[in-house]
Amino acid sequence: MKHGKKTIVRRSRNVPAPLAATAQSTVTKPPAPASSTESLRILLVEDSAMDVALIEHQLRATGRKIALTSIETRARFEAELNRQPPHLILSDYSLPAFDGKSALEIAKRLTPDVPFIFVTGTMGEEVAIDMLKQGATDYVLKSRLSRLTSAVNRALAESAQRREHEQAEEKLQRSHDQLRALTGHLQFVREEERTRIAREVHDELGQALTGLRLDLSWLSGKFHGARAPQRKIKTMSAQIDATIQAIRRIATELRPGVLDNLGLAAAIEWQAAEFQERTGIRCELKIEITETMWEREFSTACFRIFQETLTNIIRHSHATQVAVCLFQEGQDLLLTVHDNGRGITAKEVTHAGSIGLMGMTERAAQAGGTVRFSGAPGKGTTVTLRVPLATTIASLRKVS
Ligand SMILES: Nc1ncnc2c1ncn2[C@@H]1O[C@H](COP(=O)(O)OP(=O)(O)O)[C@@H](O)[C@H]1O
Ligand SMILES: [Mg+2]
Repeated sequence: MKHGKKTIVRRSRNVPAPLAATAQSTVTKPPAPASSTESLRILLVEDSAMDVALIEHQLRATGRKIALTSIETRARFEAELNRQPPHLILSDYSLPAFDGKSALEIAKRLTPDVPFIFVTGTMGEEVAIDMLKQGATDYVLKSRLSRLTSAVNRALAESAQRREHEQAEEKLQRSHDQLRALTGHLQFVREEERTRIAREVHDELGQALTGLRLDLSWLSGKFHGARAPQRKIKTMSAQIDATIQAIRRIATELRPGVLDNLGLAAAIEWQAAEFQERTGIRCELKIEITETMWEREFSTACFRIFQETLTNIIRHSHATQVAVCLFQEGQDLLLTVHDNGRGITAKEVTHAGSIGLMGMTERAAQAGGTVRFSGAPGKGTTVTLRVPLATTIASLRKVS
Protein backbone atom coordinates (compact mmCIF):
# COMPACT_ATOMS: atom_id res chain seq x y z
CA MET A 1 0.00 0.00 0.00
CA LYS A 2 2.66 2.40 1.12
CA HIS A 3 4.88 1.41 -1.71
CA GLY A 4 2.14 2.04 -4.24
CA LYS A 5 1.52 5.51 -2.88
CA LYS A 6 5.18 6.30 -3.04
CA THR A 7 5.32 5.51 -6.72
CA ILE A 8 2.45 7.86 -7.50
CA VAL A 9 3.92 10.74 -5.54
CA ARG A 10 7.31 10.40 -7.15
CA ARG A 11 5.73 10.62 -10.56
CA SER A 12 3.91 13.78 -9.67
CA ARG A 13 7.16 15.46 -8.69
CA ASN A 14 8.98 14.83 -11.93
CA VAL A 15 7.90 15.50 -15.44
CA PRO A 16 6.44 12.12 -16.34
CA ALA A 17 8.36 10.37 -19.07
CA PRO A 18 5.52 10.15 -21.62
CA LEU A 19 5.07 13.89 -21.32
CA ALA A 20 8.15 14.81 -23.26
CA ALA A 21 7.35 12.25 -25.89
CA THR A 22 3.81 13.48 -26.51
CA ALA A 23 4.45 17.19 -26.07
CA GLN A 24 4.84 17.74 -29.80
CA SER A 25 1.61 16.06 -30.75
CA THR A 26 -0.82 18.39 -28.97
CA VAL A 27 0.26 21.74 -30.28
CA THR A 28 -2.51 24.31 -29.92
CA LYS A 29 -0.53 27.46 -30.56
CA PRO A 30 0.95 28.35 -33.94
CA PRO A 31 3.62 25.71 -34.44
CA ALA A 32 7.05 26.46 -35.74
CA PRO A 33 7.79 24.33 -38.78
CA ALA A 34 9.17 21.08 -37.48
CA SER A 35 11.43 20.48 -40.43
CA SER A 36 13.13 22.44 -43.15
CA THR A 37 10.70 20.99 -45.70
CA GLU A 38 7.72 22.82 -44.19
CA SER A 39 7.11 26.41 -45.18
CA LEU A 40 7.83 29.12 -42.71
CA ARG A 41 4.84 31.47 -42.74
CA ILE A 42 6.05 35.03 -42.46
CA LEU A 43 3.90 38.11 -42.34
CA LEU A 44 5.79 41.18 -43.51
CA VAL A 45 4.56 44.70 -42.84
CA GLU A 46 6.33 46.69 -45.57
CA ASP A 47 5.29 49.29 -48.14
CA SER A 48 8.31 49.24 -50.42
CA ALA A 49 8.23 46.48 -53.07
CA MET A 50 11.97 46.75 -53.36
CA ASP A 51 12.48 46.10 -49.65
CA VAL A 52 10.03 43.19 -49.77
CA ALA A 53 12.17 41.64 -52.50
CA LEU A 54 15.39 42.24 -50.59
CA ILE A 55 14.00 40.83 -47.36
CA GLU A 56 12.61 37.81 -49.15
CA HIS A 57 15.95 37.23 -50.78
CA GLN A 58 17.66 37.41 -47.41
CA LEU A 59 15.11 35.06 -45.85
CA ARG A 60 15.82 32.44 -48.50
CA ALA A 61 19.34 32.36 -47.09
CA THR A 62 17.97 30.68 -43.97
CA GLY A 63 17.67 27.59 -46.15
CA ARG A 64 14.00 27.18 -45.24
CA LYS A 65 10.98 27.23 -47.46
CA ILE A 66 9.35 30.61 -47.04
CA ALA A 67 5.71 31.56 -47.49
CA LEU A 68 5.84 35.33 -47.34
CA THR A 69 2.77 37.54 -47.17
CA SER A 70 3.46 41.24 -47.35
CA ILE A 71 0.89 43.81 -46.31
CA GLU A 72 0.90 47.52 -45.67
CA THR A 73 -2.34 48.40 -43.90
CA ARG A 74 -3.74 47.83 -40.45
CA ALA A 75 -6.88 46.19 -41.78
CA ARG A 76 -4.96 43.57 -43.73
CA PHE A 77 -2.56 43.02 -40.89
CA GLU A 78 -5.42 42.25 -38.49
CA ALA A 79 -7.17 40.14 -41.10
CA GLU A 80 -4.05 38.05 -41.69
CA LEU A 81 -3.43 37.49 -37.99
CA ASN A 82 -7.01 36.44 -37.49
CA ARG A 83 -7.02 34.18 -40.53
CA GLN A 84 -3.96 32.18 -39.54
CA PRO A 85 -1.22 33.20 -37.13
CA PRO A 86 2.15 33.24 -38.90
CA HIS A 87 5.31 31.73 -37.50
CA LEU A 88 7.01 35.10 -37.57
CA ILE A 89 6.16 38.77 -38.06
CA LEU A 90 8.60 41.21 -39.66
CA SER A 91 7.68 44.84 -39.68
CA ASP A 92 8.95 48.16 -40.92
CA TYR A 93 8.70 50.94 -38.35
CA SER A 94 7.20 53.78 -40.35
CA LEU A 95 4.86 53.25 -43.26
CA PRO A 96 2.62 55.69 -45.08
CA ALA A 97 -0.65 53.99 -44.10
CA PHE A 98 0.31 52.15 -40.93
CA ASP A 99 3.07 52.10 -38.33
CA GLY A 100 5.24 49.48 -36.67
CA LYS A 101 4.34 50.50 -33.14
CA SER A 102 0.65 49.85 -33.74
CA ALA A 103 1.50 46.61 -35.55
CA LEU A 104 3.40 45.45 -32.50
CA GLU A 105 0.51 46.36 -30.20
CA ILE A 106 -1.97 44.48 -32.36
CA ALA A 107 0.32 41.47 -32.67
CA LYS A 108 0.87 41.30 -28.91
CA ARG A 109 -2.87 41.38 -28.43
CA LEU A 110 -3.89 38.89 -31.12
CA THR A 111 -0.90 36.55 -31.33
CA PRO A 112 1.28 37.18 -28.29
CA ASP A 113 3.41 34.09 -28.88
CA VAL A 114 4.52 34.93 -32.42
CA PRO A 115 8.01 36.50 -32.57
CA PHE A 116 8.00 40.04 -33.90
CA ILE A 117 11.13 41.55 -35.50
CA PHE A 118 11.45 45.13 -36.73
CA VAL A 119 13.22 45.44 -40.08
CA THR A 120 13.62 49.13 -40.56
CA GLY A 121 15.65 51.77 -42.34
CA THR A 122 16.30 53.83 -39.25
CA MET A 123 15.52 53.24 -35.66
CA GLY A 124 16.99 55.30 -32.88
CA GLU A 125 18.38 53.42 -29.92
CA GLU A 126 15.76 54.80 -27.56
CA VAL A 127 12.91 53.76 -29.83
CA ALA A 128 14.51 50.35 -30.30
CA ILE A 129 14.76 49.82 -26.54
CA ASP A 130 11.20 50.99 -26.12
CA MET A 131 9.96 48.55 -28.76
CA LEU A 132 11.86 45.68 -27.17
CA LYS A 133 10.24 46.60 -23.88
CA GLN A 134 6.84 46.53 -25.58
CA GLY A 135 7.49 42.93 -26.59
CA ALA A 136 9.40 43.10 -29.88
CA THR A 137 11.76 40.15 -30.21
CA ASP A 138 14.55 41.95 -32.07
CA TYR A 139 15.28 44.65 -34.63
CA VAL A 140 17.39 44.61 -37.79
CA LEU A 141 18.47 47.64 -39.78
CA LYS A 142 17.92 47.47 -43.51
CA SER A 143 21.47 48.67 -44.00
CA ARG A 144 22.62 45.49 -42.30
CA LEU A 145 20.10 43.04 -43.69
CA SER A 146 22.57 40.16 -43.57
CA ARG A 147 21.87 40.04 -39.82
CA LEU A 148 18.25 39.06 -40.56
CA THR A 149 19.06 35.37 -40.98
CA SER A 150 20.54 34.94 -37.54
CA ALA A 151 17.87 37.14 -35.94
CA VAL A 152 15.11 35.02 -37.49
CA ASN A 153 16.74 31.75 -36.53
CA ARG A 154 17.26 32.89 -32.98
CA ALA A 155 13.71 34.22 -32.62
CA LEU A 156 12.24 30.97 -33.93
CA ALA A 157 14.43 28.84 -31.70
CA GLU A 158 13.46 30.91 -28.68
CA SER A 159 9.77 30.77 -29.40
CA ALA A 160 9.93 27.00 -30.00
CA GLN A 161 11.68 26.60 -26.69
CA ARG A 162 9.13 28.78 -24.91
CA ARG A 163 6.29 26.82 -26.43
CA GLU A 164 7.81 23.52 -25.40
CA HIS A 165 8.26 24.82 -21.91
CA GLU A 166 4.64 26.01 -21.73
CA GLN A 167 3.38 22.70 -23.05
CA ALA A 168 5.47 20.80 -20.53
CA GLU A 169 4.04 22.97 -17.76
CA GLU A 170 0.50 22.48 -18.98
CA LYS A 171 1.00 18.73 -19.12
CA LEU A 172 2.53 18.71 -15.70
CA GLN A 173 -0.39 20.69 -14.33
CA ARG A 174 -2.85 18.35 -16.02
CA SER A 175 -1.16 15.28 -14.66
CA HIS A 176 -1.06 16.88 -11.24
CA ASP A 177 -4.79 17.56 -11.44
CA GLN A 178 -5.44 14.01 -12.56
CA LEU A 179 -3.35 12.67 -9.74
CA ARG A 180 -5.26 14.78 -7.27
CA ALA A 181 -8.58 13.60 -8.67
CA LEU A 182 -7.39 10.02 -8.51
CA THR A 183 -6.22 10.38 -4.91
CA GLY A 184 -9.54 11.93 -3.98
CA HIS A 185 -11.39 9.13 -5.69
CA LEU A 186 -9.30 6.44 -4.01
CA GLN A 187 -9.85 8.02 -0.62
CA PHE A 188 -13.56 8.25 -1.25
CA VAL A 189 -13.76 4.61 -2.34
CA ARG A 190 -11.63 3.50 0.59
CA GLU A 191 -13.83 5.35 3.05
CA GLU A 192 -16.99 3.90 1.53
CA GLU A 193 -15.50 0.44 1.71
CA ARG A 194 -14.48 0.85 5.31
CA THR A 195 -17.95 2.09 6.21
CA ARG A 196 -19.59 -0.86 4.47
CA ILE A 197 -17.31 -3.43 6.09
CA ALA A 198 -17.72 -1.78 9.49
CA ARG A 199 -21.49 -1.95 9.16
CA GLU A 200 -21.50 -5.55 8.00
CA VAL A 201 -19.07 -6.73 10.63
CA HIS A 202 -21.02 -4.95 13.31
CA ASP A 203 -24.50 -5.93 12.19
CA GLU A 204 -24.08 -9.40 10.71
CA LEU A 205 -21.47 -10.84 13.04
CA GLY A 206 -22.80 -8.93 16.02
CA GLN A 207 -26.30 -10.27 15.49
CA ALA A 208 -25.11 -13.83 14.91
CA LEU A 209 -23.12 -13.78 18.14
CA THR A 210 -25.97 -12.24 20.10
CA GLY A 211 -28.13 -15.08 18.77
CA LEU A 212 -25.60 -17.62 20.00
CA ARG A 213 -25.51 -15.92 23.37
CA LEU A 214 -29.29 -16.31 23.67
CA ASP A 215 -29.08 -19.97 22.62
CA LEU A 216 -26.55 -20.54 25.35
CA SER A 217 -28.88 -19.05 27.98
CA TRP A 218 -31.56 -21.41 26.72
CA LEU A 219 -29.15 -24.36 27.02
CA SER A 220 -28.15 -23.22 30.45
CA GLY A 221 -31.80 -23.51 31.50
CA LYS A 222 -32.00 -27.05 30.07
CA PHE A 223 -28.88 -28.16 31.95
CA HIS A 224 -30.00 -26.78 35.23
CA GLY A 225 -27.90 -28.30 38.05
CA ALA A 226 -25.50 -30.14 35.71
CA ARG A 227 -22.06 -28.81 36.74
CA ALA A 228 -19.85 -29.71 33.79
CA PRO A 229 -22.19 -28.33 31.04
CA GLN A 230 -22.78 -25.20 33.14
CA ARG A 231 -19.05 -24.58 33.36
CA LYS A 232 -18.69 -25.02 29.63
CA ILE A 233 -21.62 -22.74 28.92
CA LYS A 234 -20.09 -20.07 31.13
CA THR A 235 -16.72 -20.06 29.35
CA MET A 236 -18.49 -20.08 25.97
CA SER A 237 -20.59 -17.08 27.01
CA ALA A 238 -17.49 -15.22 28.14
CA GLN A 239 -15.82 -15.98 24.82
CA ILE A 240 -18.82 -14.77 22.89
CA ASP A 241 -18.89 -11.54 24.93
CA ALA A 242 -15.20 -10.95 24.24
CA THR A 243 -15.76 -11.56 20.54
CA ILE A 244 -18.68 -9.11 20.47
CA GLN A 245 -16.40 -6.52 22.09
CA ALA A 246 -13.67 -7.23 19.53
CA ILE A 247 -16.15 -6.85 16.69
CA ARG A 248 -17.30 -3.50 18.07
CA ARG A 249 -13.72 -2.34 18.33
CA ILE A 250 -12.83 -3.45 14.81
CA ALA A 251 -15.94 -1.81 13.34
CA THR A 252 -15.19 1.42 15.20
CA GLU A 253 -11.60 1.44 14.06
CA LEU A 254 -12.73 0.99 10.49
CA ARG A 255 -15.20 3.84 10.67
CA PRO A 256 -16.22 5.42 13.95
CA GLY A 257 -20.00 5.59 14.05
CA VAL A 258 -19.75 8.71 16.18
CA LEU A 259 -18.40 10.61 13.18
CA ASP A 260 -21.53 9.87 11.17
CA ASN A 261 -23.97 10.13 14.03
CA LEU A 262 -22.67 12.98 16.16
CA GLY A 263 -20.22 14.80 13.90
CA LEU A 264 -16.61 15.85 13.79
CA ALA A 265 -16.27 17.45 17.23
CA ALA A 266 -17.68 14.38 19.00
CA ALA A 267 -15.49 12.07 16.93
CA ILE A 268 -12.38 14.08 17.78
CA GLU A 269 -13.35 14.04 21.43
CA TRP A 270 -13.83 10.30 21.33
CA GLN A 271 -10.56 9.72 19.48
CA ALA A 272 -8.61 11.92 21.89
CA ALA A 273 -9.98 10.04 24.91
CA GLU A 274 -9.19 6.73 23.26
CA PHE A 275 -5.66 7.96 22.47
CA GLN A 276 -5.08 9.04 26.06
CA GLU A 277 -6.32 5.78 27.44
CA ARG A 278 -4.26 3.67 25.08
CA THR A 279 -0.98 5.58 25.25
CA GLY A 280 -1.00 7.24 28.65
CA ILE A 281 -0.13 10.54 26.91
CA ARG A 282 -2.26 13.30 28.39
CA CYS A 283 -4.51 14.85 25.80
CA GLU A 284 -6.11 18.22 26.48
CA LEU A 285 -8.97 19.16 24.30
CA LYS A 286 -10.50 22.54 23.58
CA ILE A 287 -13.46 22.60 21.27
CA GLU A 288 -14.89 25.98 20.42
CA ILE A 289 -17.34 25.32 17.66
CA THR A 290 -21.07 25.34 17.78
CA GLU A 291 -21.85 23.70 14.48
CA THR A 292 -21.34 19.95 14.70
CA MET A 293 -22.40 18.32 11.45
CA TRP A 294 -20.75 19.06 8.14
CA GLU A 295 -20.68 17.18 4.91
CA ARG A 296 -19.52 13.64 5.39
CA GLU A 297 -16.44 13.97 3.17
CA PHE A 298 -15.39 17.17 4.87
CA SER A 299 -15.64 15.67 8.35
CA THR A 300 -13.91 12.52 7.17
CA ALA A 301 -10.96 14.45 5.76
CA CYS A 302 -10.50 16.40 9.01
CA PHE A 303 -10.92 13.31 11.15
CA ARG A 304 -8.46 11.18 9.17
CA ILE A 305 -5.87 13.97 9.31
CA PHE A 306 -6.37 14.10 13.07
CA GLN A 307 -5.94 10.34 13.37
CA GLU A 308 -2.77 10.39 11.28
CA THR A 309 -1.41 13.19 13.47
CA LEU A 310 -2.02 11.15 16.61
CA THR A 311 -0.40 8.09 15.03
CA ASN A 312 2.68 10.18 14.28
CA ILE A 313 2.75 11.41 17.86
CA ILE A 314 2.73 7.84 19.10
CA ARG A 315 5.36 6.72 16.64
CA HIS A 316 7.79 9.60 16.49
CA SER A 317 7.33 12.33 19.09
CA HIS A 318 8.25 10.93 22.56
CA ALA A 319 5.69 13.42 23.82
CA THR A 320 4.04 13.27 27.24
CA GLN A 321 1.32 15.81 26.50
CA VAL A 322 -0.85 16.76 23.59
CA ALA A 323 -3.10 19.80 23.21
CA VAL A 324 -5.86 19.72 20.64
CA CYS A 325 -7.90 22.74 19.64
CA LEU A 326 -10.82 22.82 17.25
CA PHE A 327 -12.21 26.26 16.50
CA GLN A 328 -13.54 28.55 13.85
CA GLU A 329 -11.74 31.59 12.52
CA GLY A 330 -13.82 33.64 10.12
CA GLN A 331 -15.02 31.22 7.50
CA ASP A 332 -12.31 28.66 8.24
CA LEU A 333 -12.31 25.66 10.51
CA LEU A 334 -9.02 25.22 12.34
CA LEU A 335 -7.67 22.16 14.04
CA THR A 336 -4.36 22.46 15.84
CA VAL A 337 -2.57 19.58 17.49
CA HIS A 338 0.48 20.39 19.54
CA ASP A 339 2.70 17.81 21.22
CA ASN A 340 5.57 18.46 23.62
CA GLY A 341 7.88 15.91 22.00
CA ARG A 342 11.18 16.14 20.17
CA GLY A 343 9.86 18.41 17.40
CA ILE A 344 9.61 17.62 13.73
CA THR A 345 12.48 19.04 11.64
CA ALA A 346 12.13 21.13 8.48
CA LYS A 347 13.88 18.35 6.59
CA GLU A 348 11.34 15.77 7.73
CA VAL A 349 8.50 18.07 6.67
CA THR A 350 9.82 18.45 3.12
CA HIS A 351 11.29 14.98 2.73
CA ALA A 352 9.98 13.15 -0.34
CA GLY A 353 9.54 9.99 1.72
CA SER A 354 7.15 11.61 4.21
CA ILE A 355 4.16 9.90 2.66
CA GLY A 356 1.97 10.33 5.72
CA LEU A 357 2.47 14.09 5.73
CA MET A 358 1.86 14.23 1.99
CA GLY A 359 -1.35 12.28 2.42
CA MET A 360 -2.54 14.80 5.01
CA THR A 361 -1.55 17.72 2.78
CA GLU A 362 -3.40 16.18 -0.12
CA ARG A 363 -6.53 15.52 1.92
CA ALA A 364 -6.50 19.09 3.18
CA ALA A 365 -5.99 20.43 -0.35
CA GLN A 366 -8.95 18.43 -1.56
CA ALA A 367 -11.08 20.09 1.06
CA GLY A 368 -9.74 23.42 -0.26
CA GLY A 369 -7.50 23.91 2.76
CA THR A 370 -3.95 23.56 3.99
CA VAL A 371 -2.07 21.72 6.66
CA ARG A 372 1.17 23.01 8.17
CA PHE A 373 3.73 21.12 10.19
CA SER A 374 6.15 22.99 12.36
CA GLY A 375 8.51 21.92 15.08
CA ALA A 376 11.23 23.20 17.36
CA PRO A 377 13.90 20.93 18.80
CA GLY A 378 12.79 19.71 22.22
CA LYS A 379 9.74 21.96 22.11
CA GLY A 380 7.43 19.73 20.17
CA THR A 381 5.46 19.69 16.97
CA THR A 382 2.39 21.61 15.90
CA VAL A 383 0.11 20.48 13.12
CA THR A 384 -2.30 23.15 11.92
CA LEU A 385 -5.17 22.23 9.66
CA ARG A 386 -7.13 25.07 8.09
CA VAL A 387 -10.11 24.33 5.89
CA PRO A 388 -12.71 26.73 4.56
CA LEU A 389 -16.17 25.75 5.69
CA ALA A 390 -17.61 26.88 2.39
CA THR A 391 -15.63 24.28 0.45
CA THR A 392 -17.45 22.51 -2.25
CA ILE A 393 -16.60 18.95 -1.49
CA ALA A 394 -17.24 17.64 -4.98
CA SER A 395 -13.54 17.06 -5.48
CA LEU A 396 -13.46 14.77 -2.46
CA ARG A 397 -15.95 12.50 -4.11
CA LYS A 398 -15.81 10.56 -7.27
CA VAL A 399 -13.78 11.39 -10.32
CA SER A 400 -16.38 12.80 -12.68
N1 LIG B 1 4.76 14.57 15.97
C1 LIG B 1 5.97 14.34 15.44
N2 LIG B 1 7.09 14.53 16.19
C2 LIG B 1 8.31 14.33 15.67
N3 LIG B 1 8.54 13.91 14.42
C3 LIG B 1 7.48 13.68 13.63
C4 LIG B 1 6.15 13.89 14.10
N4 LIG B 1 5.32 13.62 13.08
C5 LIG B 1 6.08 13.23 12.05
N5 LIG B 1 7.39 13.27 12.37
C6 LIG B 1 8.54 12.95 11.49
O1 LIG B 1 8.13 13.16 10.16
C7 LIG B 1 8.35 11.97 9.43
C8 LIG B 1 7.32 11.84 8.35
O2 LIG B 1 6.05 11.49 8.87
P1 LIG B 1 5.07 10.61 8.01
O3 LIG B 1 5.03 11.20 6.64
O4 LIG B 1 3.77 10.48 8.73
O5 LIG B 1 5.81 9.22 7.85
P2 LIG B 1 5.85 7.94 8.78
O6 LIG B 1 4.95 8.17 9.96
O7 LIG B 1 5.39 6.84 7.91
O8 LIG B 1 7.30 7.81 9.19
C9 LIG B 1 8.36 10.86 10.44
O9 LIG B 1 9.10 9.76 9.99
C10 LIG B 1 9.00 11.52 11.63
O10 LIG B 1 10.41 11.48 11.51
MG1 LIG C 1 2.92 8.80 9.74
